[in-house]
Amino acid sequence: MAYNDKVIDHYDNPRNVGSMDKDAEDVGTGMVGAPSCGDVMKLQIQVGEDGVINDAKFKTFGCGSAIASSSLVTEWIKGKTVDEALQIKNKDVAEELALPPVKIHCSVLAEDAIKAAVADYRKKQK
Ligand code: FES
Ligand code: FES
Repeated sequence: MAYNDKVIDHYDNPRNVGSMDKDAEDVGTGMVGAPSCGDVMKLQIQVGEDGVINDAKFKTFGCGSAIASSSLVTEWIKGKTVDEALQIKNKDVAEELALPPVKIHCSVLAEDAIKAAVADYRKKQK
């Protein structure tokens, strides 16, 4: 199967790979897995007092499309508010990367990871 150039670019040069302190109050961590293939994606956000995502990091154990999807969303969510980040849909990711149907679940993982990271962050603010 031929991968789209944007997938290859993000796969070869993933943006924002790494980890943050998951215990920090201003960090939200989302860990999600795809039951169909066993891939795992960890996405972390660091949020400022104004509700803006200042930094985002990911680690993905998975296929090229999953790595590209997580790399792409870390770029997209930086500088957005958490509410804006929640508007990102897997469809946007799949379209941007021109993912074929069998790889759509990789982009679903990225959307779910954002939601999970925001939920974790919000839980800590209570
Ligand atoms: Fe899991 Fe993509 S099927 S690596
Ligand atoms: Fe399973 Fe990409 S996350 S094939």
